[in-house]
Amino acid sequence: MIDVPAGAIARVAAESVGGFRLAALPPLALYVHLPWCVRKCPYCDFNSHEARGALPEDDYVAALIADLESALPHVWGRRVQSVFFGGGTPSLFSARAIDRLLAALRARLPLEPDAEVTLEANPGTFEADKFREFRAAGVNRLSIGVQSFDPKHLRALGRIHDEREAQRAVEIAHAHFDNFNLDLMYALPEQTVADAERDVGAALAARAPHLSFYHLAIEPNTVFFTRPPPLPDEDSSAEIGDLVERRLLAAGYEHYETSAYARPGAACRHNLNYWRFGDYLGIGAGAHAKISSADRIVREARARTPSEYMQRVAAGTHIVERRELARRDLPLEFMMNALRLAEGFPVSMFSERTGLPIVAAERALAQAEARALLERDHERIRPTALGRRYLNDLLALFLPA
Ligand SMILES: C[S@@+](CC[C@H](N)C(=O)[O-])C[C@H]1O[C@@H](n2cnc3c(N)ncnc32)[C@H](O)[C@@H]1O
Ligand code: SF4
Repeated sequence: MIDVPAGAIARVAAESVGGFRLAALPPLALYVHLPWCVRKCPYCDFNSHEARGALPEDDYVAALIADLESALPHVWGRRVQSVFFGGGTPSLFSARAIDRLLAALRARLPLEPDAEVTLEANPGTFEADKFREFRAAGVNRLSIGVQSFDPKHLRALGRIHDEREAQRAVEIAHAHFDNFNLDLMYALPEQTVADAERDVGAALAARAPHLSFYHLAIEPNTVFFTRPPPLPDEDSSAEIGDLVERRLLAAGYEHYETSAYARPGAACRHNLNYWRFGDYLGIGAGAHAKISSADRIVREARARTPSEYMQRVAAGTHIVERRELARRDLPLEFMMNALRLAEGFPVSMFSERTGLPIVAAERALAQAEARALLERDHERIRPTALGRRYLNDLLALFLPA
């Protein structure tokens, strides 16, 4: 990424750009970042900020709408297939604000009639009326940050909610939404295999259409990085990961992506679009975008802190990074997404999304196949179980020479 001085947008003359054309543009999704949380969790490195006092809701919504308007020329005439309100804690926003945003979006960009519209929610923010109103505003999927149903782990993770609130969030979700996800993490501080067994049992009892199980990562710039908690060792973590997969598969979930499990038909369409190297417009503080046109693919990032973002939107300088993807980087960029999917990808999708012939990746594909990390026929390329387990080794083969 490059830093762009205020007011100027540099188009980076990426090495060997050009020489490709996309036959058709990929599907387009919209990501909306709502950056505030009640409290910062000690493991979290997302662009989220503790809300001190009332949220500047109206000003932020106005900035989002201005941001969207300034981006319209880049996505003109394209239909949006999914919307994702992510954070931060979007459920801190009022239903009125979400309604205003969705109405503004519909007025400016054609939204598919059956578009998936997801809102991330923290169980510490659940009020039944508010969630009924989110549904009425057009949100049709929730992603609930439960993390664990075990009180000792919720405390260790510094969560604002307890296990009763987690259960209540699940009940409210069932009452108003057909489609919802629970985010859970494993390999938690001092978590034993028996603890994990109980947590998976509680997650299954919630009967969620979709479950995300993330291995807790210790990220730089977090409290857990400076003061590491006692974590299970590698063998126990792997055992817990295997246990999660075994129990969820036995209960009828499909393990369709590294951390994602879904009932048949309930895979997250918004995330599938990322993994299939589709396009997305990201608006809001720190949001990222990937937008294709016939002969280039551009990535963008917006100013990160909410106050700077709002000021910069007013000045038209909120896009602080913009770079065109170099042709030589496209195979790795594509594979980093598509090889996360258990089903892999149809061979034709590689050239549809990158504009390159599949032979551009042939050397790495052949090496991966020889090492049993990947399998393919003339129609489809997919990672093997070994390739999914050692995904970084598989992806390293696609690094540009
Ligand atoms: C952007 S957060 C939004 C969820 C919502 N704010 C909440 O926490 O209730 C999305 C998810 O990422 C996961 N996550 C965050 N930090 C993580 C970490 N360090 N390691 C693994 N997963 C993490 C959590 O499961 C979290 O629910
Ligand atoms: S509530 Fe979610 S986004 Fe906010 S700090 Fe915690 S994990 Fe991060």
